[in-house]
Amino acid sequence: MEVIISQDPCSASILAARLISRLIRIKPDAVLGLATGSTPLNLYRELIRMHRVEGLDFSRVRTFNLDEYIGLPPDHPTSYHSFMEENFFLGVNIPHGNIHLPDGLASDVPSHCEAYEQAIRDAGGIDLQILGIGSDGHIGFNEPGSSLASRTRIKTLTPGTREDNARFFGKPENVPHHVITMGIGTIMESRILALLAFGEGKAKAVGEAVEGAISASNPATVLQLHPNAKIYLDESAASSLERIDYYKWVFQNKPAWQADS
Ligand code: F6R
Repeated sequence: MEVIISQDPCSASILAARLISRLIRIKPDAVLGLATGSTPLNLYRELIRMHRVEGLDFSRVRTFNLDEYIGLPPDHPTSYHSFMEENFFLGVNIPHGNIHLPDGLASDVPSHCEAYEQAIRDAGGIDLQILGIGSDGHIGFNEPGSSLASRTRIKTLTPGTREDNARFFGKPENVPHHVITMGIGTIMESRILALLAFGEGKAKAVGEAVEGAISASNPATVLQLHPNAKIYLDESAASSLERIDYYKWVFQNKPAWQADS
């Protein structure tokens, strides 16, 4: 696990965007796992800038999103389809056929989830998965108590997560109860994990995820078992880490050959 602490969300997002752009330049048909929510917004803005200004080419990139609300059609303003379209896909050149999100209107949810897993396998697996983290430690929408081996499936949101996400829906009652989410086992199969977390509200969950005991009570703790997980934080989200000075020293003193990885 590599913990990278930046002054602010913007500089942290630029570092994460560089990781992704390096991957795409080495592997133009890279498979990216994508997240929604407030956290990756600056990252998507930076990737769009890299596309427009530096010619970063997404024409062969394939994407799989982590999750979608059940019951919302793709063109619903608060669906994750719409979120991705507005905040990322409209700004880059990923062909429509290369984009995958769970279907919130699937009539047979278990079969749809199996097909989603199969599509990820058919693409050769996810090269790099972008993750946010809930204030309760959820990744994707794998709420506390989720099996650490789970696959793509239906989940029920906790009242806390519905409240956290009410800002997108006007009021908490409008937030759907059910979602389709990649499982923790699915996420853990990605070759690289890049988790971003910003702000005081994430400090407790991040502290446990990085330095606590591995437990389904904080699903993000499972990242400790991943061989290539990078955690991009701002100072506030890092504030409850005990080894904060060590992580900073490690990052500032990387050997030259490792600095770009
Ligand atoms: C979104 C997702 C969630 C969010 C998490 C944090 O696709 O999978 O795990 O990353 O709820 O949300 P924000 O970034 O809005 O704080």
